[in-house]
Formats: sequence, structure tokens, C-alpha cells
Amino acid sequence: MAAATIPDEEELARAGLRLDIDNGVATITLARPERRNAMTGRTWTTLAHVGHSLPASVRIAVIKGEGPSFSAGIDLGMFSPEGVEGERSLMGDFDGTPESRSALDEAIAGFQEGFLWLRRPDIVSVAAVHGHAIGAGFQLALSCDLRILAEDAQLCMKEPALGLVPDLTGTKPLVDAVGLNRAIELCLTARTISAAEARELRLAELVVDGAELDQTVDDLVAALLATPAAAAAATKGLLQQAAESSLHDQAAAERSAQIDRLADLAAQMRP
Ligand code: ACO
Repeated sequence: MAAATIPDEEELARAGLRLDIDNGVATITLARPERRNAMTGRTWTTLAHVGHSLPASVRIAVIKGEGPSFSAGIDLGMFSPEGVEGERSLMGDFDGTPESRSALDEAIAGFQEGFLWLRRPDIVSVAAVHGHAIGAGFQLALSCDLRILAEDAQLCMKEPALGLVPDLTGTKPLVDAVGLNRAIELCLTARTISAAEARELRLAELVVDGAELDQTVDDLVAALLATPAAAAAATKGLLQQAAESSLHDQAAAERSAQIDRLADLAAQMRP
């Protein structure tokens, strides 16, 4: 199957996104600062399109926000009967019939694709978060492998307070990071988590002064790129399955991955 074409600037702009690909790094910028980078269904389907069309040379995806916030979450217009211009309202067409449930299920599955690819073993995803990361914005940061926060970052799982559930693949990484009890408390109070608390809760790998955020991310990216691509992908794959594997199965998976690595290295050494 031919690789999909990367969305062009116009398509990205309609989705409130910018994309720069340089030297193995795809930088995705949430670029609707006048709306605090509120995201729509189109943002997420376009993010999926980006993820599915990146050239194989891309090893790192950095997600960041333009303006004062990382992201204020879903564009609240998506819930209004008229919806957001050029997009389907999430409520407008919903009449509770099995057909409309199934159409909504399909639509949300398409949105989730925009978040799921960030876990791909061949890519390390990094969220550079400053200001608010609310609801879908917090879930986007949670979908990344690594989170670097500016000191002014404020995280909030707002969905339950709005009568909703977090449905953009954020519940699993949240529970994995903070544990079930804390995740229940954070979601069901919808309270705001400061950067300092996020670090304590293991929701941030690093917290830095806002002025140092870009440089810190650049340094992290350089360190990640210094590891050979195949070893990085195989190791990420192993780590991802470790929590759910038995020790016996994980040991077997390590052997199998190592044999592939050694075979590869041996092939490179042959004259
Ligand atoms: N959807 C649509 N528009 C938004 C959103 C949003 N989620 N967030 C901000 N905006 C708009 C505001 O309406 C405002 O528009 P205006 O200039 O036409 O009045 C503009 O962006 C700037 O927002 P302010 O509120 O003025 O900015 P401020 O910096 O004071 O506050 C904050 C930022 C805290 C993010 C605030 O805007 C906010 O609480 N937004 C809503 C957050 C929210 O509930 N998101 C949904 C979570 S649930 C989910 O994502 C599934």
C-alpha cells in the first residue's frame, strides 16, 4: 500500500495545526492561539492523517501549543446544536437510535486515531506543555511518551465536570502514571494540577522554567536521536508490553528482540 500523503498547509490550518519535519523530528504545533488552541474533530482526524503519513525517517514527534496555552481542550462549539463551522456537531445529529450511536462510535474512533499513533514504537512522542492543558489537551499530553512541562503548566481532566467522560485515550496513561485512586480523585473533582504536583504524580518527566522549555525539548530530542533507531523502537516495544507481561513472557520477548538486534548488528559487521 502506498504511504498516505502528508496533509498540506491548508488542510493543517483548517485543523488548527502546523507541521514542521526536520532531521527526523516532526514538530506539531497546535496553532489556534486566539481560541487557546481549542481542538475540533477535524484537529484529531488531521492529527491521525499526520501520524499515518509521516515519512519513515521521522523518529520523534513533538507536540506543542502556540500562544498562552497548550490547549483548552475540545472546542466547546462542538457541543452546540449548530456545531463548529465546517464540522459536524457531536450533539446535533444524535437522536439516540442505534444508527446514530453507531455513527458517533465511528466518529469518536476516528478522533481517537489522532491520539493512538503517538504510542507507535518507532516514534518517541514528546509533549511540551505550557499554560493550560484541559480535557482533550490533557489527554493529548497523556498520549505522548514523555511530557516536559513549563512551571506555569496547569493540567485538568475537565470532562466529568461537563457531564462527559475522557474518551480520547487518556484514561489508561493517567491510571498507569498515577494509580487508580488518584486518577479517580483527579477526574471526578476535575481539579487543576500544577506543574509541581504533576512532577510528584509522575505526570511530567521534567518541569522547567517556561523560558527554557524549547531548549530543554531540543536537548531531549538530541539525546533520543543519538540512540540507534532500530534499538530504540525495539526497546520501546518491550517497555510498552512489560506491565502486562508475565516475567517469563517478558524474558522471552527480550531474548527474541535481542536476537533480532544481534542479527542486525552481525549483518552490518559482515564485509
Ligand atoms: N472552546 C472554544 N473556545 C474557547 C475554548 C474552548 N475550549 N477555550 C477558550 N476559548 C476561547 C474563549 O471563548 C475566548 O474567546 P473570545 O476571545 O471570543 O472571548 C478565547 O478563547 C480566549 O479565552 P479566554 O477564556 O479569554 O482565555 P483565558 O486565558 O482567560 O482562559 C482558559 C483560558 C482557562 C483555557 C479558558 O478559556 C477556559 O476555561 N476554556 C474552556 C476550557 C474547557 O472547558 N474545555 C473543554 C474541556 S472538556 C474536553 O476537552 C473534552
